[in-house]
Amino acid sequence: MEKFFINGGNKLYGKIKVDGAKNSLLPILAAAIMVDGKVKLKNVPRYSDVLGMCKILSELGAEVSWQDDNLIIDASLIEGHAISTSLAGALRSSIFTLGPLLCRHRIAKVAYPGGCEIGLRPIDIHLSGLRSLGTRIVEKNGYIYANGESMEGSDVTLSFPSVGATENLMMAGACSKGITRIFNPAKEPDIVDLQDFLNACGAKVSGSGGNVIYIEGVERLHGCEFEAIPDRIAAGTYLLMCAMCGGEIEIENFLPYHNQALLSKLLESACKIDVKDDRIFISSKGALQSFGEVETAVYPGLPTDLQPQIMALESVSKGYCLIVENLFESRFKHVPELIKMGADIRFRSNVCVIKGKDKLYGAEVNSPDLRGGAALVMAGMKAEGYTTVSGIELIDRGYYKLEEKLSALGASIKRIEE
Ligand code: UD1
Repeated sequence: MEKFFINGGNKLYGKIKVDGAKNSLLPILAAAIMVDGKVKLKNVPRYSDVLGMCKILSELGAEVSWQDDNLIIDASLIEGHAISTSLAGALRSSIFTLGPLLCRHRIAKVAYPGGCEIGLRPIDIHLSGLRSLGTRIVEKNGYIYANGESMEGSDVTLSFPSVGATENLMMAGACSKGITRIFNPAKEPDIVDLQDFLNACGAKVSGSGGNVIYIEGVERLHGCEFEAIPDRIAAGTYLLMCAMCGGEIEIENFLPYHNQALLSKLLESACKIDVKDDRIFISSKGALQSFGEVETAVYPGLPTDLQPQIMALESVSKGYCLIVENLFESRFKHVPELIKMGADIRFRSNVCVIKGKDKLYGAEVNSPDLRGGAALVMAGMKAEGYTTVSGIELIDRGYYKLEEKLSALGASIKRIEE
């Protein structure tokens, strides 16, 4: 097992480049199951979740290989339609294979997905959506058995704009006969990226990012070359790190309109920000005004995936901050760890009140999940003294070589064996 060893107190200076978005790449990898031909994904970071998804594709019979940072997938000869508990349990995005497997084979047997433990994370909206397309689904012994012999395009209204359910249904609709319309879909940038990928393979999908997604089913998809959008959550994490530690950094491969909600909060709190094309410059003195009130929401609101990192920043900002987590019910597991470092945080149910302190202190802390782990790294970089963060395999799910990137900015952070 590995952990991060951090000596806090350094300001950050220099340039950092944002990698491709984890939450775009994972559904795109699942969509490759439906493609007859080679898919070449360019500049893919080796997030452990991406490697997990590659393992699933290989087990199903796809050819998966790397050419430098490009990932090549050929699923033309894929035969498998089942995903075991050990594979599916390793990552949440295993559920994305359901729609594509139904398009490919008309049957699928997929174990319940795993992933970060940030709440119950039900899949009822995925399943009811697929049922609306005519799929017969039985849940038994930890598996979802789906039969899509009668699957065809239809109108589907989601009870909540779930990101994953929208993606599953877009993929299922792409190769189903007839027209599928998804009402109340998620509008996250990853949804638009999946539409762009599917269309690059010959699908006919439109409306993503808006109120209705319109899909005209096609018989088959062909190979393509594609590059995923920059990861807005990683970009937001770097912005928050600089805001907290102080310093001046330039972030490359950054799309400002994907991070509007965060940028307006940072501007209010006295950070200096300058955006030029696909890069952003941020400078901070490291002792900011509190954000005041923060509420996580579906896009374009403040993403739940930045809530823990915002909390780390608020633990040393001036004044009080109220954070309301509206998406996932168990997403405050980083709170006791931040308290160990000297943060003043109280919480009830889905609400936290943070009183900003002058200092945090180094401690031995454990990463509870991917973004909670990133928040603890931030806190360690700001704290006085030494911090060790264990459980970093969860951080590797969505940040690639984080310690190398942060060291290049002047942070003192090393990956060591436990
Ligand atoms: C995706 C992201 C995750 C992010 C989340 C919210 C991936 C791999 N993961 O997760 O990083 O935190 O969006 O932006 O892209 N829900 C149900 N039933 C369902 C599905 C969801 O009740 O069938 C609920 C969830 O419990 C949650 C809310 O809907 O409260 C949002 O979940 P969803 O948008 O589906 O998130 P994920 O796709 O799991």
